[in-house]
Amino acid sequence: MKVDVVLGLQWGDEGKGKIVDYLAPNYDIVARFQGGPNAGHTLKFDGKKFVLHTIPSGIFRPDLINLIGSGVVIDPTTLRRELEELDAAKVDYKDRLFIARKANLILPTHRYLDKASEAAKGKAKIGSTLRGIGPTYMDKTGRNALRVGDVEQEDFLARYAKLREKHLDLLKIYPKVEFDLAAAEQEWMNGIELLRTLQLVDGEYYINKALADDKKVLAEGAQGSMLDIDFGTYPFVTSSNTITAGACTGLGIAPSKIGEVIGITKAYCTRVGSGPFPSELLDETGDFLRKEGQEFGATTGRPRRCGWIDLPQLQYTCMLNGVTQLVVTKMDVLDKFESIGAATRYIHKGNESSELPYDICEKDLDTKIIMLRGWSESLDTVTTYEQLPEAAQDYINNIQEYLSIPVSMISTGPERHKLIVRKG
Ligand code: GDP
Ligand code: IMO
Ligand code: MG
Repeated sequence: MKVDVVLGLQWGDEGKGKIVDYLAPNYDIVARFQGGPNAGHTLKFDGKKFVLHTIPSGIFRPDLINLIGSGVVIDPTTLRRELEELDAAKVDYKDRLFIARKANLILPTHRYLDKASEAAKGKAKIGSTLRGIGPTYMDKTGRNALRVGDVEQEDFLARYAKLREKHLDLLKIYPKVEFDLAAAEQEWMNGIELLRTLQLVDGEYYINKALADDKKVLAEGAQGSMLDIDFGTYPFVTSSNTITAGACTGLGIAPSKIGEVIGITKAYCTRVGSGPFPSELLDETGDFLRKEGQEFGATTGRPRRCGWIDLPQLQYTCMLNGVTQLVVTKMDVLDKFESIGAATRYIHKGNESSELPYDICEKDLDTKIIMLRGWSESLDTVTTYEQLPEAAQDYINNIQEYLSIPVSMISTGPERHKLIVRKG
C-alpha cells in the first residue's frame, strides 16, 4: 500500500485538521510527519471543537492508529495538556497512539531561546509562535538533540542537564527576556513521566511493516509549503520541510511509497507572523475577510493577515509537492463578496511572470489581480457540486484550469460534514 499525504499549499491554517479528520476513516493509520506545537489543527464535530498541536487529527476516529513520526518535535508539556483534553473528552487513545523514538524533544530552554532570539531580532522578527521550534531543529541538525527514545536511557537526566547548561550559556548572547524556567521545568518533567507511559516505537519500522501488511496510511503535514525551510519565503519560514518530501524523511518511507498528494488551499489566502505576502489586502476588504473567516490563530490567537488567492504561488507549491488533487476550504467565507480577486501573475522589477522570483521579500514586487464574479448567496445548504451557484463553480474551474489539477473537495464550513466531495 502507498502513503497518501495531506498538506497545506499556502502559509498554514488551510484547514488540514478538518480534512484529515474527514478522510481518516478511509485509512488504518494517520501519521504526523513534521513540525510541532507551532501547529494548531482545528476539528469540529457533534457540536464540539478541538485544537490539536502534536497529536494527529485521526485521534477522534475509533480504532484508528495515530503515529507521531520521527520528523516531529515534541514538547512533553504540550503533549500532556493535549492528552488531558482527550481524557476529559473520554477519548480512549492508550492503545492507538504511537510515538516515534527518533522524534526530537523540545526542552524548556528551547522555548526560552526562541523568545530571546526573537527579541534580539527586533523589527526583523520571524513572528514565531515561540514554541521552541527553531532552536529544537537547530539542535537536531547540530547533532545535540535529545530524542524521545532517550527518555528510556539511564543517563537521560544527565544529558538533559548538559544540554540545558549549553542553552543557558547561549542565552547570554541575547537580550534578557522574562522566562520562568523553574516552573517550565517542573511541568516538563511531569510531561516526561507521562511520555514514558506511552507506546514508543521505532517509527520507520512501524510504518514500513504496516505498509507491507497492506495497511492504508495517511500522512498529515503541518504548517504550509510557503513556510518550508528550503522553498518557503526564507527567512520567514518554519524550521522543517513541510512539503511532500518531508513525509518521506519525517516518517522513514521511500519516495516510491507516496500515493495521492492532497494539497489544501483556502479559497483566499492568509498568513500569520511576519514576511512577504504579495496578494495581501491591507484595506477594508482584508478586514472583511478576517471577520468573515474568523481569521485568528488557532495556536496563538493572533489576527491572521488576509488577501486574495495567489495562483502563481499555488502553482509553485503544487510543483514542489506533486499535488494530485486539490481541496479548496472556506468557500463559504466568500459568500458575501460581489467580486473576488485572484492573483494570476507576479510583476517583479516591471517584468510579468507566473514564476516566483528568488527573493519575494523584495519591495519592488506586485501581483496582477483579476476580478471574478462572486455568487452573493449562502452556501450553507449546498451538499453537492451541482448545487453550487454557477459563479462558485466558475471560481473552482478557474483554480483547476490554472493549476491543471482537479479539485476533489470543497469545504463550506468548519464542521466535519460541511464538505462537497466530487465523485470520479
Ligand atoms: P489547520 O492548521 O490547517 O488545521 O487549520 P486551522 O485549524 O489552524 O485553521 C482553519 C480554521 O478554519 C479553523 O478554525 C477551522 O475550524 C476553520 N475551517 C475549516 N474549514 C472551514 C470552512 O470550510 N469554512 C469555514 N468558515 N471555516 C473553516
Ligand atoms: P498549522 O499546522 C500558520 C508560522 C509562524 C511564523 C513562522 C515561524 O496550524 O498550519 P515557528 O513557530 O515555526 O518558529 O514560526 O511560521 N507558523 C504557522 N503559521 N500555521 C501554522 O501551523 C504555523 N506554524 C508556524 O506564525 O510566521
Ligand atoms: Mg493551524
